[in-house]
Amino acid sequence: MNILILGSGGRECTLAWKLAQSKKCGQLFIAPGNAGTVKYGKNLQLNPLDFDQVKQAVINNNIQLVIVGPEDPLVRGIHDFFLEDKDLQNIPVIGPQKLAAQLEGSKEFAKEFMYRHQIPTAQYKSFTLGSLNEGFDFLETLKAPYVLKADGLAAGKGVLILNDLEEAKRELEEMLAQEKFGEASSKVVIEEFLDGIEMSSFVLTDSENYVILPNAKDYKRIGEGDKGLNTGGMGAISPVPFADKEFLTKVEERVIIPTIKGLKKDNISYVGFIFIGLIRVNNEPFVIEYNVRMGDPETEVVIPRIKSDLVELFTATAEKKLDSFVLDLDQRSATTVMLVSGGYPEAYEKGMEISGLENINDSLVFHAGTKLVDSKVLTSGGRVLAVTSFGEDFRQALDQSYKNIEKIKFDKMNYRKDIGFDL
Ligand code: AMP
Ligand code: GLY
Repeated sequence: MNILILGSGGRECTLAWKLAQSKKCGQLFIAPGNAGTVKYGKNLQLNPLDFDQVKQAVINNNIQLVIVGPEDPLVRGIHDFFLEDKDLQNIPVIGPQKLAAQLEGSKEFAKEFMYRHQIPTAQYKSFTLGSLNEGFDFLETLKAPYVLKADGLAAGKGVLILNDLEEAKRELEEMLAQEKFGEASSKVVIEEFLDGIEMSSFVLTDSENYVILPNAKDYKRIGEGDKGLNTGGMGAISPVPFADKEFLTKVEERVIIPTIKGLKKDNISYVGFIFIGLIRVNNEPFVIEYNVRMGDPETEVVIPRIKSDLVELFTATAEKKLDSFVLDLDQRSATTVMLVSGGYPEAYEKGMEISGLENINDSLVFHAGTKLVDSKVLTSGGRVLAVTSFGEDFRQALDQSYKNIEKIKFDKMNYRKDIGFDL
């Protein structure tokens, strides 16, 4: 079976690494991919948001399965585009259709979904420019800190958590009146602040059945001790040590099952990954957000812990046979540490040569922001490489990643040395 992965990050590199191990994987293509994905398949220089280009690539390369890495093509309806095209409609796409992708594409849509299906989440109200004054009044009824969320996709930057009421009002006004996050903040969700520890659950569903994938915790801030600006993610750990059986049963019963049933009740077909961002408050799970894709760098620890054949898993998903799929997992811990460009998540330089990759032992190096130029591996993004290792516990796995990171060099390389510090 010829397979196409859309995307170019560490998530897509990990999926390529895993799919390429399957006997059932024919030719593997990654579009656009990076300097790491060429080890597992062929990179295609196309833009995943240009659906006509994707169609040409699918037809030219006789692709029989498409896996969509990032949310953007999903939110813009790539799956619907396939279903509406007579040449593409029989080619399975792993990733939900446009309506279901609103679970990530609109915070308000996600909150309404959770309320409708009694899925535990923070209380909220949403506001537009026309209801700015009601927004101010609502803020007055809440206690600090204040959580303001741009309704639409804002590249992970659309959530503000503010301690001061006046500042919260100012920011609300900026979001609504000056479109601080562009169109994404023409509507703003204001939420009750939940105080707890975060983790994520990952589910793969065929729209009828689901399998629960390994859970993970990521580290979003640039600085040690979880300080400083938000990033796409600086490292991850799987499984999450505090997520014991009792808590995971609550997650399945109160969140996962109601989510799958809710989608069915609402007549929303969903084939693909559901990434559920959770916060644990008094040992109870609350949903912070849904994403309609795998996380990055969570994929770099979740997928390596899956021993089952990934092509078989995706085929079962496409054929709605996940009910009979038995997932075989590696019981060890996996951790990943992201190596990033100096300056990230603000301005940073690209084009630095990376050395030392050939010296890595007993870790997996997944490329995120890299490109090959004259057979040299150069940095080409903020997040550059993810170094994943296994261990009997997460500390042992982390030691292994940090040992190997010492061997990797590029100018202004930065990484967090405290992944797992809070566990
Ligand atoms: P989101 O984009 O919705 O995942 O929000 C980004 C981050 O903001 C989350 O990972 C949390 O750390 C934090 N956050 C979001 N909503 C809340 C909330 N209601 N209470 C506390 N923290 C939150
Ligand atoms: N690591 C968080 C995300 O992928 O959204």
